[in-house]
Amino acid sequence: MRDRPQIFAGLLIFVGLFTFPLWYGHAGKTSLAAPDIKLPAQDKAKQCVAPLNYMRNSHMQLLVNWREEVVRQDQRQFTAYTGKVYDKSLTRTCLTQCHTNKAEFCDRCHRYAGVSGPYCWDCHIDTKLTARSTP
Ligand code: HEC
Ligand code: HEC
Repeated sequence: MRDRPQIFAGLLIFVGLFTFPLWYGHAGKTSLAAPDIKLPAQDKAKQCVAPLNYMRNSHMQLLVNWREEVVRQDQRQFTAYTGKVYDKSLTRTCLTQCHTNKAEFCDRCHRYAGVSGPYCWDCHIDTKLTARSTP
């Protein structure tokens, strides 16, 4: 019974250490929450070119595949899992038809995840310019 204070103190220290990430984040005004991204407006296409989980994990791979297929093989059409056919185009398809809010969608998550770059925007534009063949 004489050990009780020590046990109690030990428990307190344990709980403090165990919850450290929570209150540390709170004190440092960082957050454990997911990035605050804005999804495309509902009046835009309701389906992405691939299922959500695939896009979350592999959108970068899909874009790079599109690029290789367009630039090296001149294959510009993509048949989605829904059967719908899309133009393989970063600006004209992804950013014009759905993700018109690149800053609040792509950029916010990339900043959150610490993705440096992507350098794609050195060449590709993110506006809805009307030029027929903007890359
Ligand atoms: C040095 C300039 C440059 C950079 C950097 C660049 N691209 Fe491209 N990209 C091009 C050009 C030029 C084309 C050919 C456009 C065409 O023929 O329609 C192209 C085509 C593409 C295409 C297919 C056509 C289209 O309309 O989108 C995709 C997809 C693509 N790039 C994705 C990317 C991605 C993703 C990145 C970054 C990881 C990237 N590109 C970086 C210049 C660049
Ligand atoms: C929910 C989070 C999230 C959103 C939204 C998001 N990305 Fe990403 N993106 C990532 C992560 C995480 C990586 C890095 C993956 C890695 O390093 O393996 C990445 C990487 C990329 C890359 C590869 C960069 C490189 O240098 O190789 C490209 C290209 C890219 N994203 C394009 C886009 C575009 C375009 C959009 C918007 C239409 C977008 N992403 C929206 C999380 C996101």
